[in-house]
Amino acid sequence: MQAKKKVSVNDILAMKGSEKISVLTAYDYSTSLICDRAGVDILLVGDSAGMVVLGYSSTVPVGMSEMAMFCGAVSRGAKRAMIVGDMPFGSYQPNASMAVENAVQLIKAGCDAVKLEGGSEIIGTIKAIVDAGIPVMGHIGLKPQTQSLWEGYRLQGRTKESAMKLIEDAKALEKAGVFSIVLEMVASEVADVITKSVSVPTIGIGSGTGCDGQVLVLHDMLGIYEDIKPRFVKRYAELSKSILDAVSKYTSDIKAGKFPEESNTFHMSPEELERFRKARKK
Ligand code: KIV
Repeated sequence: MQAKKKVSVNDILAMKGSEKISVLTAYDYSTSLICDRAGVDILLVGDSAGMVVLGYSSTVPVGMSEMAMFCGAVSRGAKRAMIVGDMPFGSYQPNASMAVENAVQLIKAGCDAVKLEGGSEIIGTIKAIVDAGIPVMGHIGLKPQTQSLWEGYRLQGRTKESAMKLIEDAKALEKAGVFSIVLEMVASEVADVITKSVSVPTIGIGSGTGCDGQVLVLHDMLGIYEDIKPRFVKRYAELSKSILDAVSKYTSDIKAGKFPEESNTFHMSPEELERFRKARKK
């Protein structure tokens, strides 16, 4: 069997205007394997792991050691998809050299690129990471790491002023060398203009159909995470119900003595069993 070719930065850049880019979050080996087999182009190890896997109420508490562990697991599952690791809150804000050090840690854990939230204000940091040879995905619009501290999770680009600022930020990110830009919860009219104004692909989440690619949180689209249900999520499965049914059945089978079945049970060889019985009689 021929080995699958890994999706590269150049492949992603070449997809702009010719093929939509499929991006999904992943946090562990088993789901990474499945998503990769399904043909997802980019697996984003998002700091959303903090909420959907670790149960934090926001992404703020997530640390580098947690992200490195998730990134390692996802990279071991994916043969084709590009792996992008999210830099958690506090891992790049203090200074550029700390940002480069932490980006290197995610690359060593198995990522092919890193993602940072922010626009013009973090251009120096992005340039430093790119100069270290690490591909960077930008992220503007709703920035979950800091949004909760200001106005909560709200649509971005609602006014002329904020729309113009987003376009300026996207152009600054492009100039700093990012290979793609996530647009989170940006009014679709503004996302369309940004997509036409930059040469790198835009990856939308709640930002309409005009973006070059789309990303969702795996646990949202599979219907596993129920705490928050954003309107931009399309549910492709209702796994929390399926898991609940399966686990309830498992529990009632154990109580009723229906599990394990004969097919789940191991036996001694007849000869060894005979020797064992004789020894017990002595
Ligand atoms: O953390 C995450 O999952 C993300 C995506 C929602 C873009 O940043």
